[in-house]
Amino acid sequence: MTIELTYSGEYQELVSPELEAKLNVIHDNLQNKTGVGSEFLGWHDWTSRMSETFLQNIQETADRIRKNSDVLVVIGIGGSYLGSKAVIEGLTPYFHTNPDTEVLYAGHQVSGEYLAKLMKYLDDKEVTLNVISKSGTTTEPALAFRFLQKYMEDRYGEDAVSRIIVTTDAEKGSLLSLSREKGYQRFEVPADIGGRYSVLTAVGLLPIAVAGYSIHDLVNGARDAEKDFQQFDIHSNTAIQYAVIRNHLYNQNYSIEILATFEPKLSYLQEWWKQLFGESEGKDQKGLFPASVSFSTDLHSLGQYIQDGQRILFESFLIIEEKANDLSVFTAENNGDELNYLSGLSLNEFNLACYEATSSAHLSGEVPQIGLTIKELNETNIGYLLYFYMVSCAYSAYLLEINPFDQPGVEDYKTNIFKILKKPGY
Ligand code: PA5
Repeated sequence: MTIELTYSGEYQELVSPELEAKLNVIHDNLQNKTGVGSEFLGWHDWTSRMSETFLQNIQETADRIRKNSDVLVVIGIGGSYLGSKAVIEGLTPYFHTNPDTEVLYAGHQVSGEYLAKLMKYLDDKEVTLNVISKSGTTTEPALAFRFLQKYMEDRYGEDAVSRIIVTTDAEKGSLLSLSREKGYQRFEVPADIGGRYSVLTAVGLLPIAVAGYSIHDLVNGARDAEKDFQQFDIHSNTAIQYAVIRNHLYNQNYSIEILATFEPKLSYLQEWWKQLFGESEGKDQKGLFPASVSFSTDLHSLGQYIQDGQRILFESFLIIEEKANDLSVFTAENNGDELNYLSGLSLNEFNLACYEATSSAHLSGEVPQIGLTIKELNETNIGYLLYFYMVSCAYSAYLLEINPFDQPGVEDYKTNIFKILKKPGY
């Protein structure tokens, strides 16, 4: 698997000996787990450290859930839900009437109506809960869990215990104490892996396996990426190149990066990407603002701004070369819609032409562009892509001299909630 990277400018012109030296230091800091925030670099070699027993344990738990449950409700927010949602949405066929276990989410927002309707929806189905919080103290998922735990106990009585699985830190947090007290099955979020870098731990893998996708292939894809991106070659390492180009554009006063796709199934991958880059880079009054668009839909809304608005943004396209279940345009007898000139063209070929057209239009509107192309959407390629983005994000943040692995701004609002709602001790 490879990611093909293109850039509308001249990459060679961006790399000076000074920049190469700086990148080399970042590379060594990543490899040796040194540098700012290094206590959260566990994700960097996690896929090669991960044991077969660990994967089997997740798979066996997922198989049990698939056998006894129609729905798995994942309770979590931010990095505790976006990774699995991105992978599952990316792999699930449209209008899928799922014969398998459906994966639904709660605790990622606070809508009483959503939670009430969710519980109603669950009433005639067999259910398992997976509550995920690394800190074990985040209010939104904790609140959703309070309702759903009671729902499970009312419905299943003592058997509720075997239908609640907790994924949290191994040593701290109220979720850990609660799960110990109740005897829930538990998976660990490694202490050295932060939320937005945790998709390849039990946080993401359990829901993905329950949805019926191959976690082995996903992890193997990420393992390939881990190996490929260990090579320090600024002319072939696409993770470094992506970081260098973004950083260059940032220094040219572009302040917004738009991740653009032509595939609606990627919308949660875009959300995951926004969290990863936004929370990793947006600190110390620095960082690109990560935004996303889905084309063609947004060509008829935000496309206008991209073409003609303030020149503060650049695009990075994520393109899937081949699509399963494609359709080809057929010849219509009367050609009333005057589309016969497209006869024989597949809809994916149309999308690729649309990409070319959009790219050259936006380029003439002075929007710099990065293109990232992968062959097809499957577990292996998604695993590779996830790792690519994580490692590139670390390079990007380090180029800005920012700690990629903390989120002090998020903590501010969490503390304020406690104060406003008068949590004891605040
Ligand atoms: O990346 C992060 O660490 C955060 O976005 C967390 O994922 C998010 O705040 C949820 O935290 P927790 O899993 O501790 O509930």
